[in-house]
Amino acid sequence: MRVLALLDGTIVDPEAPLLRADDLSVVRGDGIFETILVVDREPRELGPHLDRLERSARMMEMTLPERGAWERAARAVIDNWPWDTDPELALKLVCSRGIDDGDGTPTGFAMGMQVGPETIRKRRDGVAVVTLERGYAPDLMERAPWLLLSAKTLSYAVNMAALREARSRGADEVVFVATDGTALEGPTSNVVLAKGRTLITTPPNTGILPGTTQGALFRAAEKAGWETRVENFPAEELLNSDGVWLASSVRKITRIHTVDGTGIKVNDELHDEITGLYESNY
Ligand SMILES: Cc1ncc(COP(=O)(O)O)c(C=O)c1O
Repeated sequence: MRVLALLDGTIVDPEAPLLRADDLSVVRGDGIFETILVVDREPRELGPHLDRLERSARMMEMTLPERGAWERAARAVIDNWPWDTDPELALKLVCSRGIDDGDGTPTGFAMGMQVGPETIRKRRDGVAVVTLERGYAPDLMERAPWLLLSAKTLSYAVNMAALREARSRGADEVVFVATDGTALEGPTSNVVLAKGRTLITTPPNTGILPGTTQGALFRAAEKAGWETRVENFPAEELLNSDGVWLASSVRKITRIHTVDGTGIKVNDELHDEITGLYESNY
């Protein structure tokens, strides 16, 4: 199931060709995107997602269509989604730099997709992760902005390769590790640890994507009296915490039960509390 909208709000056939073969997103992965969870017609964290799309465009030095166009396209997808049969959708906003050797006019669209059964299984059962080298130091982002660390670009081939590597090792997911041994993020998620009544996540200046889901969780947790910390932690902390989760828009807050083949502490009550905090935002 796909619902596809252009930035003027027109709904188009999702099976018909949309991009030119010389579009820079096709030939170079040169563009940016966001994926937003929509539940019962309500997009979650739409403002932070659009803020992050603008941040990625700035980092990429690319022209971005105005915010109203993205809101219009998102609304068109939501209004045309079959809500009676599907109570959730994953809404992708995609913006390419435009055509190769063109005038720099970006190409954008919004596409609604079903949330897949694998994601729903992982939400329910949790995940086994492997830690994999990411190959850079946590201070590289500030020294080398051209590497676009922490921009949400369309170049996700490495992230997808890491997930294939996880599967080949019998796991579901990945936590990337920096050259100094600190944990970074998943290929499509942020990592959150609980230690007592404190939640901890990795700082965005390490080159990770600042997560809207982690942000929503921390917002609710702070209101409920939890302490929250945004700081580096060694990957071993994944084994020594009271709970560990992967957070992202479509997976929501998925618990990690196994790290590199070792079972870690899983506390159902704590998991229910954490997911309840996240859901309390909506
Ligand atoms: C690399 C990366 N980190 C973190 C996230 C989590 O971000 P969000 O919670 O805004 O979906 C994503 C989302 O897909 C991602 O691709």
